[in-house]
Amino acid sequence: MSHTLPSRRQRHTRIRAGALDPAVWWGHGDYELRERAYTPIHERLLARVDPHPGERVLDVACGLGALAARAARTGAEVTAIDLSPSMIERASRRPERVTWLTGDCQSLPFDDDSFDVVVSCFGVIFAPDPQQAAAELARVCRGRVGITAWIADQGRDLCEGCAPTCTASRLWSSETGAAHLLPTFDLDSEEGVWWLQGHSGEAVWSWVVRTSPPVRARLRELSATQVRDVRASWIRRYENFRVNGTIQMPQMYLLSSGHKRRSRGVGF
Ligand SMILES: C[S@@+](CC[C@H](N)C(=O)[O-])C[C@H]1O[C@@H](n2cnc3c(N)ncnc32)[C@H](O)[C@@H]1O
Repeated sequence: MSHTLPSRRQRHTRIRAGALDPAVWWGHGDYELRERAYTPIHERLLARVDPHPGERVLDVACGLGALAARAARTGAEVTAIDLSPSMIERASRRPERVTWLTGDCQSLPFDDDSFDVVVSCFGVIFAPDPQQAAAELARVCRGRVGITAWIADQGRDLCEGCAPTCTASRLWSSETGAAHLLPTFDLDSEEGVWWLQGHSGEAVWSWVVRTSPPVRARLRELSATQVRDVRASWIRRYENFRVNGTIQMPQMYLLSSGHKRRSRGVGF
């Protein structure tokens, strides 16, 4: 059997394409650590949508699947989808019974009104077309939604200025924005805070680079000098949040949850 080796140019193109493809770069880094740190947010989100045993739940942009697995432990019938094949491959090693799928949330492979509950924790916000992604969520949901989005808070946002090529849509970050995206739902929005912590600015920077695929993707696009400058400015910024010897930087998020309004059919 003979194999033809790709030319140097073909190899280069393939590497660049992979580097620029979100389905590829979302799979890079130790996302496990970050996902574990989001546990209180997952708990709060699930409490709002309150899945019952036997209900059909969809987790959109599920990442490594911690939220989907938690929903499955309530006895719900859970499906979880993510753009990144690597995330889904790692998620599928979980013991919980979940249907794991690779796919884009802007084009969901489900019938209308398929799910009692649709959730997305810092997931759907990354879709390049927020209106299209929201329309898809609304289409497949017949009951409750729960969505979390980072709030831009005086430049404290994790990716701001660091990952402009993959910044989340800010439409999900305000009550009016979320209501605009999901006009067929009665939504409540509440703010929450998640703490980025570490014993030094440098330790926080290392953790962020290790666990954030968008930051890793952005840094790969920069020159060595730019990386050095970005690193130094972020470490300085983290150091501004030193409290009692440790860094504690608040990251604000919005949790929007609610019910789909019943459509008034034509009565007989
Ligand atoms: C910050 S992670 C959140 C993962 C998980 N929901 C959690 O709570 O940890 C964002 C996830 O969104 C996924 N994602 C980004 N764009 C997507 C898209 N267009 N369709 C589906 N998933 C997408 C990424 O692959 C990644 O797993």
